[in-house]
Amino acid sequence: VVANIVVVGSYVVDLMCRTPHMPKPGETVLGGPFKMGPGGKGGNQAVAAARLGSNVTMVTKVGIDVFGDEAVRNFEKEGINSTYVTRHGEESTGAALIAVDQDSENMIVVALGACGKITQEDVSDAISSFDEANIVLIQLETSIEAVEKSVHLVMELNKPIILNPAPYQEFDEELLKGVTYITPNETEATLLTGVDVKDENSAREAAIILKKKGVKTVIITLGKQGCFVYDGNDKGRLISGFNVDAVDTTGAGDAFNGAFATYIARGFSLDDAARQANAVAALSVTKVGTAPAMPYESDLSSFLKKSNS
Ligand code: RIB
Ligand code: NA
Repeated sequence: VVANIVVVGSYVVDLMCRTPHMPKPGETVLGGPFKMGPGGKGGNQAVAAARLGSNVTMVTKVGIDVFGDEAVRNFEKEGINSTYVTRHGEESTGAALIAVDQDSENMIVVALGACGKITQEDVSDAISSFDEANIVLIQLETSIEAVEKSVHLVMELNKPIILNPAPYQEFDEELLKGVTYITPNETEATLLTGVDVKDENSAREAAIILKKKGVKTVIITLGKQGCFVYDGNDKGRLISGFNVDAVDTTGAGDAFNGAFATYIARGFSLDDAARQANAVAALSVTKVGTAPAMPYESDLSSFLKKSNS
């Protein structure tokens, strides 16, 4: 089975710089190397899913500028349908300033630019792609109106939707009743529930709260620990992560979401899809960059073969 996935979300250009340590306010640090590449949580998730063999349609907005041209070129190179990549007349393409330190931890400031201006009409225009999709994947790195419109459309069509609530911003929690899968990381789960999420037990506590808010299935990513899955049928469980040598963890959550969407759409069980997604996230942190670091299906199968033996 081939997964048909629509991603509604952000595309921004990533401006990444390694740094020996994170600068303090007012400090200038001599860092490097510098790398520029395609990014944005939506775009990264789309690339992750496409490289795993999914048919992906991207709904986003970029500027009328070189970065916008580059965005479209990159989607096409990745085999992603860019019919619904629209252009904003005044806003420029979004950009993220990313610093990655020696422990491969990151700090990001993202200026959404055009992708913060996705309108309800932009989402409605893509309805035929929603209609053909097995699953719709959205984040919070766009306008809330685009998020709301997507959830409502998908509810009407009675299709599954994954909400990756990243980066956290406030939204009407009524929306959660239309969400099939929610995939916060520790920080986002904490902001959504008030529980200090850091391990299996605290993740369970947060998952129970999210489930009560109306989400069908909760998946909380826990970095290298893996992820906690909970659908309310039992106590939920930790699906262990894979041990790898991390060089850059930026985009690991996106790798996870693109993969999770792919394998759920292909009919994998919750636990199996979560395990595949853990593996894809682990592979992504072994490479520098975000979208360019996403593994291909062949990388994943040789990795899983090795870790099973
Ligand atoms: O999740 C990582 C992404 O978040 C980066 O690619 C950057 O663009 C930020 O938006
Ligand atoms: Na990476």
